[in-house]
Amino acid sequence: MNQVTGTSISRKDGRAKVTGQATYAAEHQIPDLVHGYLVTATIACGKIKSIDTQAAEKAPGVIGVFTHKNPPAVCKPANDFMTSKICEARLPLADDQIYYAGQIIGLVVADTFERARHAAHLVEVEYATQEPTLDPNKVTYKEAPSLFGQSMKFEQGDCGQGMADAAVKITATYKTSTELHAQMEPHAIIAHWQDTDTLTVYEPSQWVTGSQNTYADLFQIPPEKVRIITPFIGGGFGSKAFPWPHNILCASAARQLQIPLKVVLSRRQMTANAGHRSATQQVISLGANADGSLIAIDHSGKSFTSPVEDFTEPCTGVTPTMYAAPNLRLDQELGVMNVGTPTFMRAPGENPGLWAVESAMDELAWELNIDPVELRLRNETKKNQTDGLPFSAKDFAQCLRVGAEQFGWQDRPKKVRSVTRDGKLIGWGMAACNFPALKEGGISVTAKLLADGTAHILTGANDMGTGTYTIIAGTAAEVLGLPAEQVRVELGDSLLPNGGMAGGSQMTASLIPAVMAACQEVLKIAQADTAQSALAKLHQSGKPAFEATASATGDEGGKKWSFQSWGAHFCEVSVDEEIARLRIERWVSVMNIGRVMNAKTAASQVRGGVIMGIGQALMEECHFDPNIGYPVVYDLATYHFPSHADIPRIQVTFVGEPDYNFNAAGVRGVGEIGITGVCAAIANAVYHATGKRVRSLPITPDKLL
Ligand code: MOS
Repeated sequence: MNQVTGTSISRKDGRAKVTGQATYAAEHQIPDLVHGYLVTATIACGKIKSIDTQAAEKAPGVIGVFTHKNPPAVCKPANDFMTSKICEARLPLADDQIYYAGQIIGLVVADTFERARHAAHLVEVEYATQEPTLDPNKVTYKEAPSLFGQSMKFEQGDCGQGMADAAVKITATYKTSTELHAQMEPHAIIAHWQDTDTLTVYEPSQWVTGSQNTYADLFQIPPEKVRIITPFIGGGFGSKAFPWPHNILCASAARQLQIPLKVVLSRRQMTANAGHRSATQQVISLGANADGSLIAIDHSGKSFTSPVEDFTEPCTGVTPTMYAAPNLRLDQELGVMNVGTPTFMRAPGENPGLWAVESAMDELAWELNIDPVELRLRNETKKNQTDGLPFSAKDFAQCLRVGAEQFGWQDRPKKVRSVTRDGKLIGWGMAACNFPALKEGGISVTAKLLADGTAHILTGANDMGTGTYTIIAGTAAEVLGLPAEQVRVELGDSLLPNGGMAGGSQMTASLIPAVMAACQEVLKIAQADTAQSALAKLHQSGKPAFEATASATGDEGGKKWSFQSWGAHFCEVSVDEEIARLRIERWVSVMNIGRVMNAKTAASQVRGGVIMGIGQALMEECHFDPNIGYPVVYDLATYHFPSHADIPRIQVTFVGEPDYNFNAAGVRGVGEIGITGVCAAIANAVYHATGKRVRSLPITPDKLL
């Protein structure tokens, strides 16, 4: 153990999950619960001419049928991230318009799931169909709206002049496909009203407090009247951050019916109604001097959204942090298509953005005959080129050097198609990783030291499989001087203090300083240095517990530094050219994420990111039927992603130092950085192996034949 890498306790929630003791949203047992099944549109564009619900209403067990003709009451929310935030700005069943295939056009409620589903299929719909817009070449593009108040346009210097002055120049277009979150736990919700003003929601939510405020805004009731319960989440990856139309529809129908109501989405419904990562098209030009120093970077991106929400995949945001160039231009456009609404998905923007940037850097390295690691070192940024702030605890160069050494990069054959093994071509590739370090204010944690010698830590944060339970227990154990087994952690309930959002890889950085503060406060109240002496005092006092609630205080360096996490991937691929089979043979990842709270769960986050990136690089694509606009993948079998057999051993190392400019724990975040750069590392290795430059993901066999 050193200063950077923390202890390695195993998952607190591991046993509960593998033994089925962990209760997910749809598994909560509520007396008198009834079931809702969605009716969805079979066209992608047009309007409903008529909708006949008579047969459905008469079907056995049916309690209610809702369509745009009788939508359950719900108010338009502020939808501004502060008061409330929903994924799709249009409210469900708002009118007779159809904007995408699979759009929710009704909800049938019955006493059993099977009867609700059966009756949903009895709803007769007649459409006035218009031709949907599904072809990126026929879309009209507009300037992408700003995200979190930041414009997506940027320019420094004169890019045109920079390119003209460059000794070497490359320009290429890189594409990514529509991807699905494909998490294990389906989207589901149980809404349980007590009267019309008190609501309990069981749903997988990455943001307990946000969800609480949003339902309060949707029904114009005080947030204290809304309780969100989400102890376990079976994966979210960004798609469970805010309520979707089905959540809103379930909660409003349950209110009208005054019966607890459950809605579970089928995998097919999830392809249209629970978000995806938009396909992207990016053009990058790099201009460099003969020594490899960049003089111009021109990066423009296009992504697609639905007609009912402006969501941009912000591809160019990461570019100004990566490499220094006096002339830099960024531009981002958004095209509207008749597809479901996209949303945040693991490293939104940074992931497709670095696919393009890190592929282009590799192309430039070949062009200049400079080692790709060396090219990156020569162009390292000293400051963030958007705000001019220097980076805190960067250590990117160390990631590159340690990774190169661990991988054996110095032995890299300098020619393409120069290595074969067992009849297969072998290639090596590398790429950089980057993700901003974010944190949220106003986070609080309650810590209790009980007379039985255990500690309880309570906060309305959540664990979507990332390890929140575990790192909280580890932190409390360290501060209190207790074994981690004696720390109980309770999360995922809005009755607990605001624990923040599991999004933007910010939960650890937001929460851990508050856990430390609360535990330190408990010791202070006890006037003790450790839990042991505090316990002796507790027994003397006859009190049941020492208890404190605390927040992380102080804005540590927010205006002085730019905070990013950094890393590098190195990989080896093999290509069997006869059958165009591409396999990943070897993987090394080196990351600087500030202090590592738990070496085991942090490395698992990086491995998960790499695995998800391998899926994106090799397999994952959601196609839409060109005529009806329906996703032609619809479950975990038709949406291809990796299994164990596709994944090599992934060696993960953490370097750098704790980032105390960022917070008292020196910790940044690790949820998303692991997926960044993965696709580029693989495509770069494929080029080295085969001499084929693949610029469109995924790298399916047809692209290697
Ligand atoms: Mo993440 S895409 O911010 O859940």
